[in-house]
Amino acid sequence: MRRSVFFLMIVGLVGGCQEKAEELNVDHVLKQSEIQLMYQLKRIDQITTKKLISPRSVDEQGTLHMVPVWEWTVGFFPGSLWMMYDYTQDEFWRQKAEAFTTALESQQYNNRTHDTGFMMYCSYGKGCALTSDSTYRAILIQSAKSLASRYNDQVKAIKSWNHGKDKWQFPVIIDNMMNLELLFWAAKATGDSTFRNIAINHAMVTLEHHYRMDNSSYHLVDFDPKTGHVIKKETVQGLANESAWARGQAWGLYGYTLCYRETGIPMFLTQAEKIADYIMHHPAITADKIPLWDYDVTSKADTPRDASAAAVTASALFELAQYSDKSKTYRTFGKEIVSSLASSSYFAEAKTNEGYLLKHSTGSMPHGNEIDVPLVYADYYFIEALLRLKKLEKNLGN
Ligand code: GLY
Repeated sequence: MRRSVFFLMIVGLVGGCQEKAEELNVDHVLKQSEIQLMYQLKRIDQITTKKLISPRSVDEQGTLHMVPVWEWTVGFFPGSLWMMYDYTQDEFWRQKAEAFTTALESQQYNNRTHDTGFMMYCSYGKGCALTSDSTYRAILIQSAKSLASRYNDQVKAIKSWNHGKDKWQFPVIIDNMMNLELLFWAAKATGDSTFRNIAINHAMVTLEHHYRMDNSSYHLVDFDPKTGHVIKKETVQGLANESAWARGQAWGLYGYTLCYRETGIPMFLTQAEKIADYIMHHPAITADKIPLWDYDVTSKADTPRDASAAAVTASALFELAQYSDKSKTYRTFGKEIVSSLASSSYFAEAKTNEGYLLKHSTGSMPHGNEIDVPLVYADYYFIEALLRLKKLEKNLGN
């Protein structure tokens, strides 16, 4: 008896030590991220042309893939630079962030896509929060006007895309929840509640029509713009119309969490919690908590994962942990995700991966596009998750 207690104590000690050794060191990961971003800036210098201004992924040869100013991902790299400035307070990062942000100025008038929210809030929005620059403020307000111009009062939502006119009349994708943050900001900045009302209506309509009984989300709902009635529900980037595309679930989780932060409407908190529970308790959740590209895909050894979905989920969970009674559960799960992403399985070795931090994201499997590659938005939400975790733990006195 005594011997077995002694044995258990030893096992416990060894186990405890292992846990300690593997413990996530957020500052260390942020420092590694800084080195990697520095390398990415060098790679960009070698490639940038007047037309290609921001990194998005890599091409089929594994070479840095840069995109033009109107492309939906252009806000993420400047946003990562702003977060690095926030973390280091080093003027170097501020100057770089400013340069990549101001390159996007023309997009404040882009009313041809809902992505204006992603493009401008992740760049100018992060910059404005850190500098209170009045030029940034004016550009963000114009960006919000461009986004709000896509609102339809019959549907009571913002139209996501102009393309696909042969398939859809008024497509609204779950990703659109992310763009609402710009509108909430604009309502506060201008005192014009129209922006806020549009965002709330959009979130309500999405909750009603995109979500299924099990709290998973459709990717796209097409509406009749004259009546507001639903025409059809389908997927574009997921496995099937009825499946749960991994990044879509993450966009929804992040979106409803920010809607609760901005409005205090309990229904939004409940929805965020339901989505979090769907993700955390999904039978297909992997041991390392990095989801396969769709929760309904059959898991084989080589099924691609989506680190970007994981990063968005972790960042959202760290915010949700501030509002929910299930704070510890969300914090723990988020930490598991971030620990996996920070491990050598996902975090690139210094000066590889074209300077991207993370490997193993999936852009669009059905289109055969960007499969098992680095993606700039995976890095952006990963850095955001690290900073949010750091703040959360500081507030908890850890
Ligand atoms: N918003 C596009 C995507 O998530 O791929």
